[in-house]
Amino acid sequence: MGEPRPVMDQWLKGPHSVAFKRLLEPASRKLAASLEINSPEKSPKCLVCHATGFLREDRPEVTEGVGCEACHDPGQRYANFKTMARLGGLRLRKPKESAVFAKKVGLKYPTGEDCMRCHGPQIEVDQVTYLNPHNQPFDLKAAMVTIRHWR
Ligand code: HEC
Ligand code: HEC
Ligand code: HEC
Repeated sequence: MGEPRPVMDQWLKGPHSVAFKRLLEPASRKLAASLEINSPEKSPKCLVCHATGFLREDRPEVTEGVGCEACHDPGQRYANFKTMARLGGLRLRKPKESAVFAKKVGLKYPTGEDCMRCHGPQIEVDQVTYLNPHNQPFDLKAAMVTIRHWR
């Protein structure tokens, strides 16, 4: 305990933790209505980028927004406090060892390509293509700095 909390706190302060709540706002209703979607918070057409694991039957993490697993893969093994503390510590002292340990516990390091799945013009999940209804420019390099949560 102790050390891993900042990872969580920084993610909470970042843009991805509010992604699901966003779908409950009037702006989302308006955009959804224009696309003939009734409930953006229930529609795969919005959840695909604004939530985690929306295709799982019980949808356990949808309300988390874009959570850890959306970028780092399902984390039963990496996502516990002890492992996080070790990763965070190793990262600073021994980056090479940290990468080996991360792999062992199933923490994938997301690349720019992974970001572009949601920040690009369309995303494909289970052979279904969903269009991005926004038309925002995205500066990947700057965005990587914005979401920094690992130190
Ligand atoms: C392909 C991924 C993707 C899909 C699908 C998607 N969004 Fe988004 N959404 C984003 C991203 C990325 C942002 C942040 C910046 C931007 O606007 O591109 C965002 C931002 C928003 C915002 C904040 C205001 C704004 O426009 O920047 C609202 C509101 C929103 N989305 C609602 C929705 C609703 C409602 C749906 C379903 C009809 C939806 N989104 C579908 C990726 C997506
Ligand atoms: C939007 C994508 C995204 C989300 C969401 C996200 N991360 Fe990350 N995370 C990254 C990126 C990118 C890196 C840096 C990878 C690199 O350095 O190559 C990173 C790095 C890390 C590291 C550092 C690993 C090391 O070697 O020290 C930890 C630990 C971590 N994230 C944990 C989390 C946790 C816990 C959550 C949820 C609370 C989370 N991340 C959510 C993208 C994300
Ligand atoms: C699962 C989809 C998803 C992935 C993967 C993802 N994002 Fe996002 N991102 C979103 C959504 C949705 C928002 C809008 C959140 C809101 O305001 O409602 C967003 C917002 C952002 C924002 C703030 C708005 C903006 O456009 O500047 C930044 C910065 C950002 N993401 C960076 C990243 C980076 C860097 C990565 C890769 C390491 C990444 N994202 C991966 C879905 C995603």
